[in-house]
Amino acid sequence: MALRLPYRSLRTTVLAVAAVGALVTGVLVGAGTSQAATSQACDIYAAGGTPCVAAHSTTRALYGTYNGALYQVRRASDNTTRDIGLLSAGGYANAATQDSFCAGTSCVITIIYDQSGRGNHLTQAPPGGFSGPASGGYDNLADATLAPITIAGHKAYGVFVAPGTGYRNNNTNGVATGDQPEGMYAIFDGTHYNGGCCFDYGNAERNSRDNGNGTMEAIYFGNIKVWGYGTGNGPWIMADLENGLFSGVNAGYNAGDPTINYRFTTAIVKGEPNHWSIRGGNSQSGSLSTFYNGARPNVSGYNPMKKEGAIILGIGGDNSNSSAGTFYEGVMTSGYPTDATENSVQANIVAAGYAPPTSTGGGTLTPGTAISLRATTACCTTRYITHSGSTVATTVITSSSSSTDKANASWIVRAGLANSSCVSFESRNTAGSYLRHQNFQLYLHANDNSSLFASDATFCPQAGQNGQGNSFASSNYPSRYIRHYNNNVYIASNGGSNTFDATALWADDVSWVVTGAWTP
Ligand code: AHR
Ligand code: AHR
Repeated sequence: MALRLPYRSLRTTVLAVAAVGALVTGVLVGAGTSQAATSQACDIYAAGGTPCVAAHSTTRALYGTYNGALYQVRRASDNTTRDIGLLSAGGYANAATQDSFCAGTSCVITIIYDQSGRGNHLTQAPPGGFSGPASGGYDNLADATLAPITIAGHKAYGVFVAPGTGYRNNNTNGVATGDQPEGMYAIFDGTHYNGGCCFDYGNAERNSRDNGNGTMEAIYFGNIKVWGYGTGNGPWIMADLENGLFSGVNAGYNAGDPTINYRFTTAIVKGEPNHWSIRGGNSQSGSLSTFYNGARPNVSGYNPMKKEGAIILGIGGDNSNSSAGTFYEGVMTSGYPTDATENSVQANIVAAGYAPPTSTGGGTLTPGTAISLRATTACCTTRYITHSGSTVATTVITSSSSSTDKANASWIVRAGLANSSCVSFESRNTAGSYLRHQNFQLYLHANDNSSLFASDATFCPQAGQNGQGNSFASSNYPSRYIRHYNNNVYIASNGGSNTFDATALWADDVSWVVTGAWTP
């Protein structure tokens, strides 16, 4: 199906890819029909002489001809598994398979398949220097639904790594060892990170232990400052080389490594004898920048390298598992890719069309619908916006909560009192009372029919700033968003002067999943 493009559009695709410097792989399709598959990331690396030896994605094919499974999910209701494949060869994930298989229950991602043919699949990480929180000291598996996006307009899911989550393969094939050259890139959610060790993707120890300086070479993303860091407050792309995250030649600070936090961030680390590089960019537009390109760190133990060739995702080499992040795709190569090859891969990533989700997470913001609003910050994913009298807060609500608590967490979506293209939230159990802000804090007050009340009670939804659910801008303070802070609820301004305007956890604190109401 994917290849049945009219000649003209196919030719345009081919020329567009060729124009950014990629080589196009021609394939024969069907009897007597010569057509070219779109050259995807690993085709571009292969054409550059540095083929992928691992290719992981839950969103799309990384080869123009790949038509296998992307990942596997397991549902809680009966512990059965299902492979999630593609809408077409070389194309995008078939998220509908996951949605129907996981409907009415929960699902975790059990396997992220390697598309390279080398069998370097990622599965639940085992204990090592540190144990994970799951049975047997393994790390947790990612909830399959927590990182929804669209890609070229198709729904897809990333891998949402909450602290404690991790994937690994300690028995790989073809991945660089010793001082052998390799490259890697990954696409992360630049707004989902933390300061725990260590949200990594790349090369690590085969025994899940700290085997000394130079026994890893992985991409790190986050804002931990225990080892290296760059300018601003982070997050930074750094190289985890074991016993150190490096932002450049120095341990600690390197001025060339900027804070980078695009919603979709392309992150690159590559290394060869006494030479390595950090690069990055916006996965939705533009080109890559080079943040470091030079000699191995001026600290002993990293030249030559002693890479071991395991692959990690979401954890440190020794199974440190305090970190958070979201992964959409990534590859590892054999050989040190040229900047030109990576630039072509970046163009392919941009063309893939990553975008935040358009869905609202199960509930709907259609006026008249009863909904609940769930927090998405890692601390608080079982907390909902509730009222108790006029006081508004986030409260943990579960199926065993009292019916009063459930009703206090339930709201009826109304056309916005001040702007019908936005929304207002009327209390489910206190008819005529609405969520409104006053002195920038949210309260439940009866509608007094004033224009001030209407404005204070009107919120304009947009895609959630952390990629989940929705964020809600105040209609009369449009740079302020509904935000929880210390479990109270405000309209906050990112980096403003109030305590509740803190930039830390901003994107998570202002993103709410709209669920069906606890009390429908
Ligand atoms: O290099 C930083 C971290 O240090 C590694 O990921 C981990 O193995 C060690 O704790
Ligand atoms: O509201 C709970 C938490 O409190 C928020 O996530 C954080 O911003 C604050 O520390």
